[in-house]
Amino acid sequence: MVTKEYIQELKRKNFEELYRLIRETQESRELFFILENLGYLPNGFKGEVFVPLIVHLNDSVRFWAVKNLGKISNPDFIGLLLRTAKYDKDSMVRREAVSSIGRMRTQQTIPYLIELLDDSDPKVVLQAIRGLLVFKTNIEAQKALRNLENHPNEMVQSVIRREFSQNHNSKNQQPHPSSPDFMKNVVVHGDVREILRHVPDESVHLTFTSPPYYNARDYAIYESYKAYLDFLMEVFSEVHRVTKEGRFLIVNTSPIIIPRMSRSHASKRYPIPFDLHARLGESGWEFIDDLVWLKPETCVKNRNAGFLQHRKPLGYKPNAVTEYLMVYRKETEKLLDWNIHQYSWKAVEESKVNGEYETSNVWKIDPAFDSVHTAVFPIALCNRVVEFYSYKGDLVFDPFGGSGTLGKAANNLGRYFFLTEQEEKYFERMKENLTTLDAVKLHQPRFLKVDEFKLLNQGENDGHNN
Ligand SMILES: C[S@@+](CC[C@H](N)C(=O)[O-])C[C@H]1O[C@@H](n2cnc3c(N)ncnc32)[C@H](O)[C@@H]1O
Repeated sequence: MVTKEYIQELKRKNFEELYRLIRETQESRELFFILENLGYLPNGFKGEVFVPLIVHLNDSVRFWAVKNLGKISNPDFIGLLLRTAKYDKDSMVRREAVSSIGRMRTQQTIPYLIELLDDSDPKVVLQAIRGLLVFKTNIEAQKALRNLENHPNEMVQSVIRREFSQNHNSKNQQPHPSSPDFMKNVVVHGDVREILRHVPDESVHLTFTSPPYYNARDYAIYESYKAYLDFLMEVFSEVHRVTKEGRFLIVNTSPIIIPRMSRSHASKRYPIPFDLHARLGESGWEFIDDLVWLKPETCVKNRNAGFLQHRKPLGYKPNAVTEYLMVYRKETEKLLDWNIHQYSWKAVEESKVNGEYETSNVWKIDPAFDSVHTAVFPIALCNRVVEFYSYKGDLVFDPFGGSGTLGKAANNLGRYFFLTEQEEKYFERMKENLTTLDAVKLHQPRFLKVDEFKLLNQGENDGHNN
């Protein structure tokens, strides 16, 4: 039986014996083992030994033959690799063949890689792009790459746009970590859609919110489910405008049930997170993660009573112990590292999440109750979101502020809050909850009507224009 050590020894001392071994090994698994363990191939090693294996019946043998041919970096093999990339029956072998051509990093590969940009497998196209990007300044390569800007595959599109996009000209000249002073620790009473008209582009770092649940409470009555989703999208499109480049929106929702009208009617369940998700994806929000908020079963409405008695299939109704926190990022060609690099070393150090933290996407947190508001965030949930998705000094926004839980968390963690709420009684509740906060002296909490907020915005603009 050939061992890894023996292969390495032959590589050092006896190429001829190694060639013989590769040529004469019949058993596919053994041959695959040898090819897989060849590692780096020294100068003088002849790639011809791999050529017959390019048509071997075993997919893994062909894959490793192609990979090893790529290591040789001999342009004589480009044609053979191109044929493999185009016609091999196994997609992994085809992708590896393109990658092997790319790794040769010689100008001779350019026309071959351009030919592969027409492949029907997006991964082949992506490998060919990778190879061509080495020659990004070559006119032919650049022309072919730019032609892919409207390629049907979204990953191809995004890579090309990222490589060739002009630098993003932010509409807001403010440095990324800053936000408008007139919005810091401010709560505005009114319809969020109206208030947002007076908020400048790209001024908010993070939005975390729990929207009103469709027709479940007094403050959430809509003409139809479609009207409800349209309303939410009106809000989240504006949130998109006011969010800084590459920053996050986290929406807490769960499917909701509207009880039956009478015993002769059925209840109806609305999949809010999923319907909203489809719309957010189409309006410039990139899906990042789905976090599941898990509550103890004793804290949720019991839907099991009927089934517990009758045990008839189809009548099963599980207790809903979860809600979603859907995480989105404002679409950008820039990587998360770009966002992080906008902050000073000190700000990054001070914002680090130290100690133990939740490593999974299931967050076990008890629900919270409030004497005035019927559907409040637990502070522990807000604390986690604020810590994981913002930096100290950031501006954190809740368009559906309710009792102001997010404001408390933001303040506790050295961030500023900006909250809007349309119901008078909840606005008053926020006053109670947020005035006593140990807020930054310069930015004591302010509770404003829409007109007052509008004036502040104008004042800040005038100040900047002077
Ligand atoms: C689920 S509650 C949010 C509770 C909040 N997360 C908390 O911790 O207290 C949703 C809130 O959105 C408010 N709301 C509904 N429509 C609104 C609108 N158009 N503009 C501003 N607030 C609105 C409701 O009055 C309600 O207080």
